[in-house]
Amino acid sequence: MSKPRKGAMIGCGRVVQDHHVPAWMQLGRSVVDRWTVADPLLQSRAAVQVQLGVPNEMAYIDYRALLLREQPDFVVISSPHQFHETTVIDCLNAGVPVLVEKPVATTLAGAERMVAVSREAGVHLAVLHNYRWMEQARLVRRLLDEGAVGEPFLFRSERIGMYWSQGIEGYDPAWRTKESAGGGCLLDNGYHKVYLALNYLGPVASVQARIGTFNREIEVDDTALLLLTHVNGATSSIQVAWSGSGQSVNVSEVCGRKGSISQEDDGSVKVSCCEEVIRHTSRADAGFLETFRRFIDMLDGRGESPATAEEAVETMRVIRAAYHSARTGTVVDVPGYREQGA
Ligand SMILES: NC(=O)c1ccc[n+]([C@@H]2O[C@H](COP(=O)([O-])OP(=O)(O)OC[C@H]3O[C@@H](n4cnc5c(N)ncnc54)[C@H](O)[C@@H]3O)[C@@H](O)[C@H]2O)c1
Repeated sequence: MSKPRKGAMIGCGRVVQDHHVPAWMQLGRSVVDRWTVADPLLQSRAAVQVQLGVPNEMAYIDYRALLLREQPDFVVISSPHQFHETTVIDCLNAGVPVLVEKPVATTLAGAERMVAVSREAGVHLAVLHNYRWMEQARLVRRLLDEGAVGEPFLFRSERIGMYWSQGIEGYDPAWRTKESAGGGCLLDNGYHKVYLALNYLGPVASVQARIGTFNREIEVDDTALLLLTHVNGATSSIQVAWSGSGQSVNVSEVCGRKGSISQEDDGSVKVSCCEEVIRHTSRADAGFLETFRRFIDMLDGRGESPATAEEAVETMRVIRAAYHSARTGTVVDVPGYREQGA
């Protein structure tokens, strides 16, 4: 077993305080025994300092000062979306391996630049595609591999939610609703569904989308409906929204030629083949712990990345092609999609 590492957190808001820190604490001090943090907002910094026992001299307003003084073994970046690209590139250029929160970037071109720097610098860049590592999703993947429902031909994932997640008080709780964040419900929540579609059904050939702001007074999309045609002929139907006005159903189902597999709200996974229904129990977790464990194993040379930057680029290609489809009213070829001038 390798010796404990020194980790850094850049961005210490809600997701870090509520999800990252508890997962890192579960992994334990034998994995990461020292933390350093950076966040321009005192209250975010201070909250995580208390949670992780970070002394004031290891807490920074500006992550660039942290990079100059601390030499961490890795960094987790959890700032708002528009800062990911510059922050990731600065960390990679400083030789520090990165795990960045989703979405990897706000543009496809930005994600491609990050991959190029990671390759040139020879420094790991992994992305927090945590839904893929939820116990439920891992079970779905295993059941598909075992052929439990035959060849999958359809993935549908739908939730017409009422709200976006509020950011932390003191910074800008509404940053997700602003143009500067780079996109709305599709980039924020739909991103998870797109990488799951890629994981369950493989690469995407084309996308057709209707995306807009239909029911909220915000600068970004509140509704996104995507139809993906996968290279193998399968289809994904993704519907995500902040525009709903009631309690919406939450659907995530893979249909195969012999039956279907659905992720249930209680955390279980239901396999249904004609009359037969089998319920598999699994934890309703959010996949952070497993992602962090895999990230550390990758740094130790003991396993694959929990999500490579290349997978994140493919996710962004589908998303940006979907926005293009919605703008132009056309079906957009995904492998051939290149973002100009972004
Ligand atoms: N993987 C998931 O399931 C999941 C869930 C929630 C949020 N997220 C992602 O986590 C990220 C943060 O979201 P959040 O809900 O914690 O937001 P938040 O508003 O609660 O926190 C953002 C924090 O970033 C800080 N910040 C602003 N500019 C910064 C900069 N340049 N450098 C460092 N820190 C900066 C703010 O002061 C604030 O403390 C986003 O990318 C979001 O999409 C992921």
